[in-house]
Amino acid sequence: MGWVHRRLVLPMFRFVGSERAHGLALRSLRIAAFTPVGRMILRRSFAPKEQASITLWGLHFPNRFGLAAGMDKRAEALRGWATLGLGFIEIGGVTAHAQPGNPKPRMFRVDGQRLLINRMGFNNDGCFRVAQRILRVRRSNTYLPPLFANLGKSKITLNEDAVHDYATSMRALHAVVDGFVVNVSSPNTPGLRDLQHESTLATLLSTLRIICSDLNQGVDVARPLLVKFSPDMSDDELLRLVDVARASACDGVVVSNTTVTRPIAIRSRDAKVLLEQGGLSGSPLSDRSTEMIRCISGHTGGTWPIIGVGGIMSGADARQKIEAGAHLVQAYSGFVFEGLSLIRSVNHALAETRD
Ligand SMILES: Cc1cc2nc3c(=O)[nH]c(=O)nc-3n(C[C@H](O)[C@H](O)[C@H](O)COP(=O)(O)O)c2cc1C
Repeated sequence: MGWVHRRLVLPMFRFVGSERAHGLALRSLRIAAFTPVGRMILRRSFAPKEQASITLWGLHFPNRFGLAAGMDKRAEALRGWATLGLGFIEIGGVTAHAQPGNPKPRMFRVDGQRLLINRMGFNNDGCFRVAQRILRVRRSNTYLPPLFANLGKSKITLNEDAVHDYATSMRALHAVVDGFVVNVSSPNTPGLRDLQHESTLATLLSTLRIICSDLNQGVDVARPLLVKFSPDMSDDELLRLVDVARASACDGVVVSNTTVTRPIAIRSRDAKVLLEQGGLSGSPLSDRSTEMIRCISGHTGGTWPIIGVGGIMSGADARQKIEAGAHLVQAYSGFVFEGLSLIRSVNHALAETRD
């Protein structure tokens, strides 16, 4: 299946451009999951044959491999992702206000290096429409694995008011998701990464913690509150932010978001794309994100849940992150370059390493 994706699907996508290809793939998944026959085909073709479940934050994860933020910003193919046998799904980034994101083109691919560069800028429908869409799926009694909402900040909202933007999305989505990831690390919203300054982050996270805990009063399983960090900082800085997040009673961390660095040799053939402004994801991010996982896990004695993401292209890549201390792993770029067969290969590798 991975072979078919690399030899047939990727070359076809070259003709339509990365963002259109992404839209087509999402639409196809949504349509395929619409009928029982379609769901059976998806399940038989891609769902893992072996999987190792885990319980975290009181939530049951059928396996440790999930979908990273950005792939399904509008929560439009939830039934499809669930049918494919993912262990969890992270939708969004969602912001309080609907917004179009940056002008196109804003997503680029270098197939030879298995990397993407994007400057999407949180294009999304806004938290209220996304909440309605999820509610419709919930009401249809469709099984969903743990569902996380990635929360961003609207471009029109000043950093001083960021907490209100995140809180609006949290309140809108709390009833329909199982947990939240506070995204302060996307490089494509001007000033967003300034929220990673220690004192700013402390205020933001502790306020969101109070709001989330209040909302949690009325539900059976409390929604965990996680934070997602950038790879573009030193380990010392990272650990200071980890301490801030833990002091704010955050339930865990996602590392990492895309990098604004270019951690590869820039060959002239790819230079035009590599010099595009935006965040890089995929293979070249793998080592740094694994290093961050190892660093956080060592610092916290492995007691603070970590979701590892960045450059997972194979079962071995996923296993490396689990061995470095990740409790769960997820991917975006790996699905673009390896296709949906990644779900089976990662689960196979992780089931083998079960302790
Ligand atoms: C096109 C695109 C859009 C993304 N959008 C978001 C987003 O909205 N919020 C977020 O936290 N991360 C976003 N990400 C980052 C991914 O969730 C992930 O952290 C990053 O791509 C590294 O993983 P990967 O190498 O498996 O792609 C996006 C990534 C890509 C490629």
